[in-house]
Amino acid sequence: MTILVTGGAGYIGSHTNVELLNAGHEVVVVDNFCNSSAESVRRVQKITGKSVKLYEGDLRDGALLNKIFDENKIDSVIHFAGLKAVGESCAKPIEYYDNNLAGTLVLLDAMRAHGVKKIVFSSSATVYGTPEKLPLDENCTVGGTTNPYGTSKYFQEIMLRDVYASDNEWTVVLLRYFNPVGAHESGLIGEDPKGIPNNLTPYIAKVAIGELKEVGVFGDDYDTPDGTGVRDYIHVVDLAKGHVAAIEKTNKSGVYTYNLGTGIGYSVLDVIHAFEKACGHKLPYSVKPRRAGDIAACYADASKAKNELGWSATLGIDEMCASLWKWQTQNPKGYNA
Ligand code: NAD
Ligand code: UFG
Repeated sequence: MTILVTGGAGYIGSHTNVELLNAGHEVVVVDNFCNSSAESVRRVQKITGKSVKLYEGDLRDGALLNKIFDENKIDSVIHFAGLKAVGESCAKPIEYYDNNLAGTLVLLDAMRAHGVKKIVFSSSATVYGTPEKLPLDENCTVGGTTNPYGTSKYFQEIMLRDVYASDNEWTVVLLRYFNPVGAHESGLIGEDPKGIPNNLTPYIAKVAIGELKEVGVFGDDYDTPDGTGVRDYIHVVDLAKGHVAAIEKTNKSGVYTYNLGTGIGYSVLDVIHAFEKACGHKLPYSVKPRRAGDIAACYADASKAKNELGWSATLGIDEMCASLWKWQTQNPKGYNA
């Protein structure tokens, strides 16, 4: 199949491109590099020995999207492009809604105009808001999101459901990611956050390499086994393979929703200690106040993806930390070394 990967130069997109190419698919990428660079695409080509067709530009540019669909016989779209920083979305809601919602609308319009009716969308566990129960399954209530980023994911899910309702020939796959971490085993591609990382594992990696002083643990008084926040961390390569399964296994039209997680929750302290094993030394940390908007615990019931897609995560926390450490040490300044 030929797959258009929006945001394909980014963290999850680059890992997915490797798995798509390895599975024999053709990949066309569109990315405006607002949070990435062309270097990740070059590295994907190096890992796989295959080429990727790259278009630099914005998803909201309808003329560009029509040109891409005119020039390539696209079978399906995997839609990663979007802004994703929770804190920034609270300060810049207009930019977030514009980028994430308008980008998706322009994409859907171009797909419709070219008769391409299959889309896999990057949603998030954030759509569940405060979990009504744990583990979270796909029937749990969605909505009640607490920031514009999360709300934009929730809205996009609704938009995609409405498109299917208007035309039952569409296949819409909503993949709700839990916490993607780690990097490709080659150490050539990984997450390359700009500035000080917001997320736990890239922050830990920068402490481990000596760039940041200590890990701040955001609260140790949650109702969890050790009092720190619990999340379902999933290796980005497992997550990438989930996209290949979603593309290949959903052959009938409809709307499909899948959690992509491991089903296992690890606390902040568990992750720090797992990373200490990977990097071979102790990591300094101190407890800070809770971060606004955080929930105590969030982990998936991932059985639906296993039963219907034949996909399940195979890599554990040690592989997540070891691969992140390899990426961090091989690329201390990320892609722009
Ligand atoms: P990322 O920032 O590394 O990748 C997103 C890519 O989209 C970047 O390369 C960026 O340059 C591009 N982009 C953004 N807006 C664009 C636009 N208007 N036009 C063209 N390109 C644009 O992020 P990621 O971690 O790879 O996330 C990919 C998707 O998965 C996002 O939609 C994100 O919201 C979602 N997601 C991520 C996580 C996570 O923790 N990383 C969790 C749940 C969901
Ligand atoms: N944490 C710290 N210190 C840090 C950073 C995080 O203690 O420096 C804690 C948080 O309080 C939380 C856990 O580590 O308990 C994980 O936090 P992250 O910021 O890494 O991840 P979140 O679960 O908050 O959110 C991530 C993405 C969201 C996405 C969500 C679910 O940032 O976009 O996973 O997929 F929606």
